[in-house]
Amino acid sequence: MIQTLQTASGNQFFFLSTRSTTLVVQRDPHGFLFAPYWGSRIPASDLSYLVAEIPRASYLADADGRKDFKLEQLPQLYPAYGYTDLRMPAFAFTYADGSRVTDLRCVGHRIYRGKHPLPGLPMVRPDAETETLELQLRDTVQGADVFIVLTVFAAHDALTQSVRVENHGNAPFRIDRICSVSMDLPDNRWEFLYLDGAWARESHICRQPVRQGCLSVGSLRGASSHAHNPFAALVDPGTDETHGEVYALHFVYSGNFLASAQVDMHQNTRFQMGLHPFDFDWTLEPGASFTAPEVVLIHGEQGLGQMSQRFHALYRDCLLPRAFAGKPRPVLLNSWEASYFRFTGESLTRLAGQAASVGAELFVLDDGWFGHRDDTTSSVGDWVPYREKLGGGLEALIQGIHGQNIAFGLWLEPEMVSPDSDLYRAHPDWVIQAPGRRIEKSRDEYVLDLSNPAVCDHLIGTISRLLSSYPIAYIKWDMNRNFTNLGSTWLPAYRQKEQAHRYMLGLYRVLDRLTTDFPQVLLEGCAGGGGRTDPGMLYYVSQIWISDDTDALERLPIQYGASLTLPAEAMGCHISAVPNHQTGRSLPLQTRAAVAMAGSLGLEMDPAALTPEERTQLTHAIARYKALRTTVQQGRLYRLKGLEDGNEYAWLFSSEDGAQVLVTYVQKRMCPNTITRRLRLRGLEPDAFYRDEAEGWVRSGRELAAVGLALGRIRTDAFARQWLLRRVEAPQT
Ligand code: DGJ
Repeated sequence: MIQTLQTASGNQFFFLSTRSTTLVVQRDPHGFLFAPYWGSRIPASDLSYLVAEIPRASYLADADGRKDFKLEQLPQLYPAYGYTDLRMPAFAFTYADGSRVTDLRCVGHRIYRGKHPLPGLPMVRPDAETETLELQLRDTVQGADVFIVLTVFAAHDALTQSVRVENHGNAPFRIDRICSVSMDLPDNRWEFLYLDGAWARESHICRQPVRQGCLSVGSLRGASSHAHNPFAALVDPGTDETHGEVYALHFVYSGNFLASAQVDMHQNTRFQMGLHPFDFDWTLEPGASFTAPEVVLIHGEQGLGQMSQRFHALYRDCLLPRAFAGKPRPVLLNSWEASYFRFTGESLTRLAGQAASVGAELFVLDDGWFGHRDDTTSSVGDWVPYREKLGGGLEALIQGIHGQNIAFGLWLEPEMVSPDSDLYRAHPDWVIQAPGRRIEKSRDEYVLDLSNPAVCDHLIGTISRLLSSYPIAYIKWDMNRNFTNLGSTWLPAYRQKEQAHRYMLGLYRVLDRLTTDFPQVLLEGCAGGGGRTDPGMLYYVSQIWISDDTDALERLPIQYGASLTLPAEAMGCHISAVPNHQTGRSLPLQTRAAVAMAGSLGLEMDPAALTPEERTQLTHAIARYKALRTTVQQGRLYRLKGLEDGNEYAWLFSSEDGAQVLVTYVQKRMCPNTITRRLRLRGLEPDAFYRDEAEGWVRSGRELAAVGLALGRIRTDAFARQWLLRRVEAPQT
């Protein structure tokens, strides 16, 4: 709901309210825009006192020649560079006359139902209740207009914000910096919480107190990256799964980004997110416009659990591709860890048969099926079947695999090219490169310059042909290297710093076209595992391979961190062979299965190598997952343990209607001679009764929350246990 209120003192207020939160925007009589309040829901009333009460420091610069008006102390909605606020601005422009000063005043607003598409960019889609406030700001000296577009998702307790810049002047100007959100919170007691990691160790939760100065995370790697997800939150110290105030931002973007928390000398915290300003600028011609990608804003007072549930519901209902929304994700077997590059058509058909025999529904042929690729050194870009290796064409192979009663999916790495490829030989100018410098390889690849529309057209043509020629149900869209030696043969010199962002716009165009033309193909995003697990990708791909690390113990913090924002159906989680290929650990199949069942289940192994006992266990685990997958993939997640010492993890999925509950507990290291502990549950209806499937007891939700489940004596490392509870009628007494 968006309400407006005009006060006698000349302030105009906009109350952007969700079911339980409100963001207040204030336009003062001089056209300045403030955000004096963001928090739990409040009624519309005259809040002029909030800004009026802020003390004014005499040593700060005046604005508008007014001695008592110090922008540097005020909670601005979109602070400009150069007009007296000396904190980090939300944006900075350089004009044709060399000036860098911008003074934005609000000159109008529009409120409308729904939300307009963001040109060329992914976004959270509007639902029936969505409303948008568009505020128009103008710098009259230079003719720069900035539109702040704030959309309210009332039922989801979420907002989105994007920013559009229009050049209404007579000369081009340059955008040097552009955040999509800048929030001034009048406090400095926060912890900055974010996700960090590396290949095989993605999405680990990190937190540290903010201090005067700036904390930031970001990426300059050309992808949102393994190192940091474009997610950051300011949380109360001590915030856990159920307690604590949380302000979270998530960037709907897959490239370079910066998220920062700057505490100023007056103890305000400025919380920003947007395109990374380093090595970025954008020249805006007269009449042209530029849209900065949107950020999702979530506020809540009940800890990280509530925050995650809000992200999950929003992403499920309004972000993930519509064609697969609410549909069960197939259990798949991916050939990578089973075969790597060593396979034949025959071995693949046999592997697919093995997959089907344990219950998998989709067989994915990973890397090595095209060109003359037997290792990483060739053929990426030449998406034609390697007939000699496959023992024929793709058609015959797929037929054979379908004959095993399983669907077929394929791996692609469309954004890269091998130096040893026909594509590179034909178009050496199509790769990212700097004049006069060697093009450095990474994983034996170069990066295609997707800022060049011809490259994108080529990808659309090639992949469309592939998808039209063969019955392919699924594509794993991989991306295995980051950008170095940036430069484009296509862009003019003055636009070179636009390349990284133009690349993303090119990628989004390709994905948009393919998902529009082939909506029936399930896409899984991957970037050497979790190198691009952001909501930008989730607009196009229905799931993401969140890490190449398939060791169940390593997966615990990775899946915990990823689940802060990603709903379970969007996280690819596979049971792999032992010893594990990343860590060398051998973990029981029960533990591997329990951990992988927290997402969209898959296999990364050859079932033929299992002992008969393991095979039976695996078949049962897959059958059980299929019976429960709606609860996992569409239910509510409650993380019960994991933030504490990292030795114990537990989580609970409750089906949409609350009738089925799956609880999983994992302990990494056993501890001798401890008391037998209990696992208290959350997310149950206090007055409902639940029956345990295995043991048959019936207990109330209240009892299970207060007393918990007995964990018993745990005598092994890597211990896992699951409970399946069903809501039942009250027992007869
Ligand atoms: C990296 C991916 O993360 C792996 O799963 C696999 O697809 C390889 N690339 C193939 O080269």
